[in-house]
Amino acid sequence: MNLSICAVCGHVAFGGAPDKCLVCSAPQERFIQNDKHFSENASKHAEGADKHSPVISVSKTCGLVPENPCVDVAVRIGKLLHPMEPAHRINWIDCYVDKLFVTRVYLTPYVNPVTCFHLKAKGSTVRIVENCNLHGSWMSEAEL
Ligand SMILES: [Fe+2]
Repeated sequence: MNLSICAVCGHVAFGGAPDKCLVCSAPQERFIQNDKHFSENASKHAEGADKHSPVISVSKTCGLVPENPCVDVAVRIGKLLHPMEPAHRINWIDCYVDKLFVTRVYLTPYVNPVTCFHLKAKGSTVRIVENCNLHGSWMSEAEL
């Protein structure tokens, strides 16, 4: 997997660094290619997978927008709910459809480490990347 990581905000570009970071606008030269970004982090914190790997649920029966039906991607971090304390928390959750970056959701200790994306974008795979302030970035995928 061709992964480039923004050194400023941690955003991951799949398939080559963009001209500017799609999250923080940092220039292309601030991206660092590391195809093992997720696997290295996961092996460093092997005991943490159940608390960090995003759990993805896809639903096609939302009904909130009947005039333009969406596919809902509900995300929970992780199978064992991750803490949300000032000292140990999930900072953000990024959503992608195939290699297309969709959006980032920022979290604070005042919310649970969960969110839902009401997707208009079409594709075959949804990717979720989350960032923990102590244990780095983790990714999961699901079929749409
Ligand atoms: Fe953590």
